[in-house]
Amino acid sequence: MLQLTPKTIRIVDFYEDGTDSRHFTFEPKGFAHKEPIAIGQFFMLTVPGAGLAPFTYTSLPDNQGRFTALIRKVGKLTDKLFTLKKGDLLGYNGPHGNGWPVAQIHQKEVLIVAGGCGLAPVSTAIDYLIEAGRAASVTLLYAARDKESQVLKQERARWNSKIKVFETLDTQGDRGHSGLPTQYLSTVLSQCHRQPNMLLTCGPEAMMKDIAKMCLGLGFESSDIWLSIERRMRCGVGLCGHCYIGSSYACKQGPSYCYDELIAFENNHNTGLSGYMEHFQYC
Ligand SMILES: Cc1cc2nc3c(=O)[nH]c(=O)nc-3n(C[C@H](O)[C@H](O)[C@H](O)COP(=O)(O)OP(=O)(O)OC[C@H]3O[C@@H](n4cnc5c(N)ncnc54)[C@H](O)[C@@H]3O)c2cc1C
Ligand code: FES
Repeated sequence: MLQLTPKTIRIVDFYEDGTDSRHFTFEPKGFAHKEPIAIGQFFMLTVPGAGLAPFTYTSLPDNQGRFTALIRKVGKLTDKLFTLKKGDLLGYNGPHGNGWPVAQIHQKEVLIVAGGCGLAPVSTAIDYLIEAGRAASVTLLYAARDKESQVLKQERARWNSKIKVFETLDTQGDRGHSGLPTQYLSTVLSQCHRQPNMLLTCGPEAMMKDIAKMCLGLGFESSDIWLSIERRMRCGVGLCGHCYIGSSYACKQGPSYCYDELIAFENNHNTGLSGYMEHFQYC
């Protein structure tokens, strides 16, 4: 049965993790998740007095049911959330949506390209592949505006010893690469011992679109290119129509979409991929 009444979660802890971003740990109060949560799924968070909004699980529930989310302060709801304290209660509904294609990524050499706090929705995929013993098949290219706005510092430190991690900053840093991920991609691929043949990407839609096209040009199958497309959401369960993309609701069929699906929307609805870029630059 469709569950719309929010359950209650408690803020267990949080710490600053990038400009205007906090890494929250939440704990269910009086309920347990009945079904496993898939990598890349999201939940609706209700902040009393401010409304509700979707956020991705940065880590899936542990044996105490605790899960984490990386949240950037951008407006009314997140402003209010950032005033709350440890122990405060929030409303919660989830999991929702279609996450990353689990069966498919098991067979592939996976390139993950994330921009800004678009790293949050791919973090469970990275941890999943590491735990599945497939770390050698994962390459991460992470782009951010500057050092301060990079998120998931602890996770990146942990991943560094396990998977290939490449970072680039829009602005010149002390060291490391500077420039857009599209400019860095060919160098990254030239340093991979095993050539990636599948893409997962999340970040500003212009970045995802350009990276997807480059990967197509490099011979990736369009069915092996997956983008996390995000829309304004109100209900999160396919009732309000706020998150329409082509003929689908991003809250139900998405947020992870195969490039093939987006091309089909383009053909059926006469909206180019650029049509999906009109609203939101993820972070
Ligand atoms: C499936 C999904 C997963 C998400 N996961 C995360 C996450 O893990 N971490 C995170 O920090 N954020 C995430 N977001 C974005 C997050 O939901 C928004 O930042 C949040 O709704 C902002 O609420 P607000 O009231 O603070 O800001 P608002 O005052 O509502 O908005 C601030 C600005 O952002 C724009 N905006 C906000 N949300 C959207 C949207 N979905 N589409 C287009 N424009 C938008 C508004 O137009 C406005 O310009 C996710 C969004 C989706 C759809
Ligand atoms: S958010 Fe209401 S239909 Fe998707």
